[in-house]
Amino acid sequence: MWRRVLSKRLLLGLTGVGAVCVVALLALAWRPAIAPIDPPAPSSFAPELVAKGEILASAGDCAFCHTTTPTRRFAGGYSVITPYGYVFSTNITPDPETGIGRWSEAAFMRAMREGVRRDGANLFPAFPFDHFTKLTDDDIKALYAYLMTVPAVKATPTPSTLPFPLDVRALQAGWKMLFLDKGPFRPNPAKSAEWNRGAYLVEGIAHCGACHTRRNVFGAEQAGHPYAGELIEGWIAWPLDVSPSPARWTKDDYVTYLRGGTTVQGRATGPMGTVVQGLAKLPDSDIQAIATYFVEFDRPARPSADAAVAKALAASKQQSGLERERGARLYIAACGSCHDNVEPGRAELALSSALWYDWPYNFLRAVLDGVGSERDAPGPMMPPFRDVLNDSDITAIGNYLRRTRTSQRDWLESENWAAKVRANPQEVPWAR
Ligand code: HEC
Ligand code: HEC
Ligand code: HEC
Repeated sequence: MWRRVLSKRLLLGLTGVGAVCVVALLALAWRPAIAPIDPPAPSSFAPELVAKGEILASAGDCAFCHTTTPTRRFAGGYSVITPYGYVFSTNITPDPETGIGRWSEAAFMRAMREGVRRDGANLFPAFPFDHFTKLTDDDIKALYAYLMTVPAVKATPTPSTLPFPLDVRALQAGWKMLFLDKGPFRPNPAKSAEWNRGAYLVEGIAHCGACHTRRNVFGAEQAGHPYAGELIEGWIAWPLDVSPSPARWTKDDYVTYLRGGTTVQGRATGPMGTVVQGLAKLPDSDIQAIATYFVEFDRPARPSADAAVAKALAASKQQSGLERERGARLYIAACGSCHDNVEPGRAELALSSALWYDWPYNFLRAVLDGVGSERDAPGPMMPPFRDVLNDSDITAIGNYLRRTRTSQRDWLESENWAAKVRANPQEVPWAR
């Protein structure tokens, strides 16, 4: 009897506390609308400011995420995949009805800095405002000037498919309280000016951590363990703290990869291809700065690429006793003509993160869909093998390469993975 009373009281109490929390959260979540303005004339923005904004927009991949049809740039509709559902990007052209034409500079600044819409509603962090918050006021103003001068397109945003209650925008206030480290960027006085420039670009506009840092159950980046690798759109964005490749990433490797899209460790394909294309407009000094920042993260002491290539190739050329295996024969027939004796500087399978990593996602994507799509960093092509090789063939080749080119064991359940990635790479779960 007393138990029932107690539990009733407890329930009432908890409900009360819950209600207070919800009210407090809603109060904190409330942000005023910022009054609409008449769309500013494109000629009201200084051409230098617009040009600066264009470079920043390119480095921030705004067009990639905000475009679905090339002729309707920035009109939105691209679906960002989260573990909970799709969040569709919005129209950021200056169309007054469906875009941001009636947003003042202050409203745009608040969206970039705090993830709040002009009407006061919270934005979802599928929009990487947790990085853009680091930008300086001047850089945000340049982005605003550029976007206000692109052609206006009519397009109404698609609602997200997040389930209740995750779709409640007001609740994002709680997320921000826990996870948003509001900018602008604070330089680290103990580091060089070049390092700080790199950190500013990486943490801000280039948002490298949005793909390369693991996320917690709330979808926020694990701040204490940056660049440990994450699955994004069915690709692995490799760990950058400990690259899976056995070769060290030197500063020069970073510069070469970010500028040209290829080193002996691999080629930037998929989402990273887009990133490399977006960074192309940045001056060399900025790419050097990003490299200076990242090179400190590659922690374990390892041989440089040249030494690692020599070592790996010597091992793989030794009689492995596997030459008569199915995987070996398939490799020689389908792959060897291109992958044996590759040109200096091009990706070498024996050093490829795709081959060394514990899970075969990127290896399978390269084999199934080939390399050299519009999205990939420019360079020679590899044909897709989707219709030529079945899952068991691809698995045999993959495991043959693992045994001869790396010191890793066979991929677990690789045939299952081949089938899953073939069916729909976007839906492949993250197995760690
Ligand atoms: C990873 C994909 C992605 C990238 C990169 C990205 N955005 Fe977005 N953006 C989104 C999504 C998704 C939304 C919608 C979020 C929502 O509905 O809560 C959005 C919303 C916005 C909004 C709010 C507009 C509105 O009408 O509510 C602005 C402004 C914006 N983005 C500007 C930018 C700019 C500027 C850049 C480049 C510096 C950029 N975005 C890069 C995905 C992206
Ligand atoms: C949109 C998601 C995304 C963003 C943003 C992104 N990356 Fe990547 N990155 C990837 C993916 C996916 C791969 C694997 C690509 C592949 O191998 O085809 C990758 C690969 C890499 C590699 C190769 C590592 C290896 O072991 O082979 C480096 C280096 C790298 N990224 C650095 C960066 C830097 C620096 C930034 C920021 C300037 C950045 N990335 C931003 C998704 C991203
Ligand atoms: C017509 C030539 C050609 C053939 C045939 C070919 N490839 Fe490739 N492959 C390439 C090129 C080019 C790249 C991109 C590397 C570069 O640009 O240096 C590549 C990249 C790859 C990568 C990604 C490497 C990385 O780290 O970025 C993998 C994995 C791969 N190939 C595996 C295979 C396998 C397995 C086969 C046989 C089933 C095969 N390739 C057949 C030309 C080829």
